[in-house]
Amino acid sequence: MLKKESLIWTLFIILTITVAACGNGNDNGSYERSSIQDSLDNLNPNKKEDAKILYGREIFNHTDTAVPENVGNKLSCISCHGDDGLDANSPMVGVNVTYPKMHHGKYTTLAERVNGCMVRSMNGQKFKEDSKELDAVVSFLDFISKDVNSKKDVTWRMDNNMEKTPEPDITRGAELFDRKNCISCHATDGSGTGNETGPALWGENSFNDAAGMARFSKAAGYIQNNMPRGLENTLTDQEAADLAAFMLSHERPVADKSEVGTYHLNPGRDYITKERRKKIRDKTFDWESLDSVKKAKQ
Ligand code: HEC
Ligand code: HEC
Repeated sequence: MLKKESLIWTLFIILTITVAACGNGNDNGSYERSSIQDSLDNLNPNKKEDAKILYGREIFNHTDTAVPENVGNKLSCISCHGDDGLDANSPMVGVNVTYPKMHHGKYTTLAERVNGCMVRSMNGQKFKEDSKELDAVVSFLDFISKDVNSKKDVTWRMDNNMEKTPEPDITRGAELFDRKNCISCHATDGSGTGNETGPALWGENSFNDAAGMARFSKAAGYIQNNMPRGLENTLTDQEAADLAAFMLSHERPVADKSEVGTYHLNPGRDYITKERRKKIRDKTFDWESLDSVKKAKQ
């Protein structure tokens, strides 16, 4: 009897979590995810224009295997922009109208922004400007954004940025990594279990230290908004900060300065570079030297 009751309770809890998770993913009120998904699924690979979009989708979802010569890790675009880039928490819907714009002090087109990801998040090589690969990725992003007409429509693009970040503790972060079950999808050593199940969080197969995710305030915001997958937005600011610091304290590819410049090396920015990683592990890093931590203390 007792067994049966606890089984029913377990089922009830699973159902509640599933409903909550799906609600979160589908119903953000601003773009219709299921209809975009349907129109993607209905593209005809025998039509030239459709085939190009589908190739872009293939590159977006399986970057490391679709264009291995351009990727220097085991990530894909969906490692951070989940579910065809349609995930409610980090969607790519509408990026076509938000570009060109100023980025890192430079006038940047969407194609240039994609290439920026190639040399940072993907730790790889840029696509050639007139390549069919770059054209395909941009066509795919255009397609999932086709119903968006103006910047004002894009109310759902969030920055995944925690403006005030509590001072973190990596010992607590390590403990949370286990207790919050990050290890079940990202493995105990952070090396991941796969692009679709849980990509590499650190080590040679992860993003390099000039990537947006290598910024402390972004990593904390991203983790809080997106993880643990299925239980998004359940971590406190402190927990997300502890987890971000723990993740970024580990070694990862060092960005090639000749590709990315030195923007990320400016000490006024919160990229966690090699020197900082060591200090964080030695517990000698002055967290208050980062603006977002200083702001949280004021
Ligand atoms: C390691 C994580 C990661 C990976 C992998 C990644 N991105 Fe991103 N991307 C980010 C973050 C973080 C941002 C900053 C915006 C945010 O905070 O959500 C971003 C921003 C962008 C933007 C600009 C959005 C805007 O509104 O300005 C585009 C476009 C983009 N990514 C495309 C891609 C493409 C295409 C790929 C694959 C080639 C890719 N990204 C891979 C993390 C990632
Ligand atoms: C149920 C599996 C699952 C769990 C649990 C989970 N993740 Fe993820 N994680 C994913 C998947 C899948 C992605 C790829 C993006 C997506 O689909 O949303 C991802 C992406 C990420 C990324 C960006 C990609 C990268 O390689 O850096 C970070 C950071 C991250 N997770 C951190 C965490 C942390 C921290 C926890 C624990 C609080 C956690 N995840 C728990 C499955 C999971």
